[in-house]
Order: sequence, then structure tokens, then C-alpha cells
Amino acid sequence: MNDRTMMVRTERLTHRFGDLTAVDSLDLEVADGEVFGLLGPNGAGKTTTLKMLCTLLPPSAGRAFVAGHDVVREPAAVRREIGYVPQLLSAEASITGYENLLIFGKLHDVPRAELEERARKALERMGLSEFGDRLVRTYSGGMVRRLEIAQSSLHRPKVLFLDEPTIGLDPVARRAVWDMVQGLRETFGTTLFLTTHFMDAADALCDRIGIMHHGRLIALGSPEELKDMTGMSTLDEAFISLTGNALETSGNVRDIQRDRRTARRLG
Ligand SMILES: Nc1ncnc2c1ncn2[C@@H]1O[C@H](COP(=O)(O)OP(=O)(O)OP(=O)(O)O)[C@@H](O)[C@H]1O
Ligand SMILES: [Mg+2]
Repeated sequence: MNDRTMMVRTERLTHRFGDLTAVDSLDLEVADGEVFGLLGPNGAGKTTTLKMLCTLLPPSAGRAFVAGHDVVREPAAVRREIGYVPQLLSAEASITGYENLLIFGKLHDVPRAELEERARKALERMGLSEFGDRLVRTYSGGMVRRLEIAQSSLHRPKVLFLDEPTIGLDPVARRAVWDMVQGLRETFGTTLFLTTHFMDAADALCDRIGIMHHGRLIALGSPEELKDMTGMSTLDEAFISLTGNALETSGNVRDIQRDRRTARRLG
């Protein structure tokens, strides 16, 4: 497949922090319109990968293309085509939600004539209409996240990168965020590249999932394929069987996989 149909493509993409190889020779392709989930235990290299794709961190080796543009050679072109919701909250708390949107819109060259209308519509889509004129400091965590999704998609990016968009949210707020994300895909056909530790959400939302472990991509497929591959009935179990015990105290992953498969057959 060529760059035109691929919204994200990496070739042996690598990032090193000193001696630590946080992302190790990652080969990945995400198609136009796809919802792709990059999952993996803490420290697997997910955020580092997203930052390279968003031109915020330079690759140490390998290459990456987003919307057909090389992240190293054409960073400005990449930035025009993407939205990024970082893992840490990023909205400015001392101004209103609406003002946040106006600032983001200007930064991303949203046509002046359309900006106010788009900002209002975006608030509406994210269920924030009534709160647009309140200071962000008065928002709940879920509202801040929804505002951030609104602002990062105001310029209608081709690809939206979401790094743990539901971290720290209660189940109701999580559901609202996932619904809004799904809505963006349905309304604008936005390609979504996300990370999350919520396996049920990933299972419901993602067309394909890549599992990262120690900087490497260790499994890739649809949620169903990952379950089949591991002989598990839930993505949660598939994740654990692929990445091993999160604390890495127990032995061989293959043994665990085999044992669990066996237990399931017997059970
Ligand atoms: N600025 C940095 N300097 C040095 N090491 C870093 C830096 N940022 C990340 N790392 C290390 O790189 C590895 C990958 O980190 P990264 O944040 O990409 O993981 P992650 O998969 O996003 O984890 P989490 O699920 O906890 O968000 C970790 O070992 C981390 O400690
Ligand atoms: Mg992270």
C-alpha cells in the first residue's frame, strides 16, 4: 500500500533516551479512516511513539510519515494535518473553554470567518455548550478532556492522536469521552490513533490494535484476532497473556499463555 491510503506509516522507527531504547524499530501502518489503538504496559513506549508522530520528538533512527509527510523533513506539513491530545492535561485553566477554542483555532489557521461558528459547534458536539463561557479551572476532568478533543479537532485534522484520553476519569465521564471520539470519526471520518489502558474501550472502538512491550511491537491485529491468537475470551486477558504479568515477576510468557489456554479449555 502507498502513502495515499496510509495515514500513518513508520519504518523501523526508533527513539533512544540515552541507553534506553524507548521505541525499538517500530513498523506500523494505519489506513485512512481507521481507529488504531496502541496498547502496552506502563513504559512500553506509547507516548514516545505518539510524540515522534506528532513531530514533538525526533526519531533516533528510522522514518515516519503522517498523512504522507515525513515527520523529520516536513514537520510543518505534518502539524497541519494532525490533532494531538496529550497524556497530561493541556487546556489553559485561567480562560474559558470558548477562549481556549479560539486560541487553538487561530494557531491552526482555521479561517477567521468560520472560527466562532466552529468553536460553538465543537462545544455542542462535546456536550459543553452550557459551559463554554466558564473558566476551564471550574471544569471537571472529563469536561477538560472533552474540551481538549474539541480544540484538537477544530481544524478538522486528518489524523487525531489521543494519548490516554480517559486517564483519571470516572466511568460515566469515560463513556462520554469515547462517545465523542467515536462521533468525530463518524462525522468527519477522522483517522484516530489512540493509546489507552482501558481494554473494553479499545475492544469496542478500535479496528486494529498494536501491542507494545519494551519498545517493540509484539502483536498486531483486530481485537478478535488478538483474542484468537492468545486463546483468550477478553482483550484484557489477551493483553496480559501477551505482555506477561505487569510486575514481571513470573516466568515465561509462553508458559502463562499455554496455561491459561489450557485452563480455559478445561473450565
Ligand atoms: N524524557 C525522558 N527521558 C528519559 N526517559 C524517558 C523520557 N520519557 C520517557 N522515558 C522512558 O521511556 C520509556 C517509554 O516511556 P513512554 O512514556 O513512551 O511509555 P508509555 O508506554 O507511554 O507508558 P505509560 O503507559 O505509563 O504512559 C519509559 O521507560 C520511560 O521511563
Ligand atoms: Mg504514556
